[in-house]
Amino acid sequence: MAQLVKKAVIPAAGLGTRVLPISKACPKEMLPIVDKPAIQYIVEEAVAAGITDILIITNRGKGVIEDHFDHAIELEERLEASGRTEELEAVRRITDMANMYFLRQKETKGLGHAVNCARCFVGDEPFAVLYGDDVIIGDDPACGQLCRAYEKHGKGVVGIKEVTPEQIVKYCSLAVEKLDDRVYSVSDMIEKPSLDQVMSNFSILGRCVLPPDIFDILDNTPPGAGGEIQLTDAMRTLAVRDGMIGVDYTGTRYDMGNKLGILQATCEVALSRKDLGPAFAAYLKELVSKL
Ligand code: UTP
Repeated sequence: MAQLVKKAVIPAAGLGTRVLPISKACPKEMLPIVDKPAIQYIVEEAVAAGITDILIITNRGKGVIEDHFDHAIELEERLEASGRTEELEAVRRITDMANMYFLRQKETKGLGHAVNCARCFVGDEPFAVLYGDDVIIGDDPACGQLCRAYEKHGKGVVGIKEVTPEQIVKYCSLAVEKLDDRVYSVSDMIEKPSLDQVMSNFSILGRCVLPPDIFDILDNTPPGAGGEIQLTDAMRTLAVRDGMIGVDYTGTRYDMGNKLGILQATCEVALSRKDLGPAFAAYLKELVSKL
């Protein structure tokens, strides 16, 4: 059977105020983890999950994201002429891995508003949303785990993780009931709950797969926490109406929207690399011994 979920949307139009000053002129989605920008890991995850068409939501000043996924003719010619085939392949693969589309969110009105900009691209199909500042690294792509759950249950799916009581009030809280190993039914959710509104310490982190009905719901979702149109508020309507599925996905998530997350991603990915890992580990051991 052909895969049902073939399209993905990556919202990358946020202002990135938590990682200023770098995000003033450099999109946080382009921050490097060793030698690749964060958003390339996210696109690679979607492609590994069988996604063929990817829309990145950008805004003013984020044109460098488009450049990264476009051909760089002069560079490619130079690499070809000098026989640097490995680098040439790496550069070309970025452009060729999926059909890439770009759209500007003209005002920064929240994640829900950014996703709603994708209506024409998505049409009448289910689609995946991969948050542009959440990199997830694992053997089984998180996006694919959610797509499989969508195909099995026929309901919207959110990627979930248990967080600490201190963190839950900054994220969103879900009402969940366990169905299977790592799979839950989700009947309610709330963005940035106060302590007495917390339903569980499970929160949505970085990924979801949604039916196209979400667009009509988003059209009728008023601004919520922070005066922004919250995707969580629209998904709440869906969860209460039809029920949703939560998948506690495997893989390590790095929050590239906060400074500590960026440092953790850099260290852990560098340590896992065959070419850099041993030398970097030796350097870190030396450094730590002096702390
Ligand atoms: P965040 O809330 O983490 O991003 O949104 P932000 O607004 O850039 O963060 P801070 O608080 O100012 O540091 C999650 C994802 O949604 C995108 C962001 O780019 C990020 O990938 N987003 C957010 C949009 O595309 N548009 C928006 O209006 C808001």
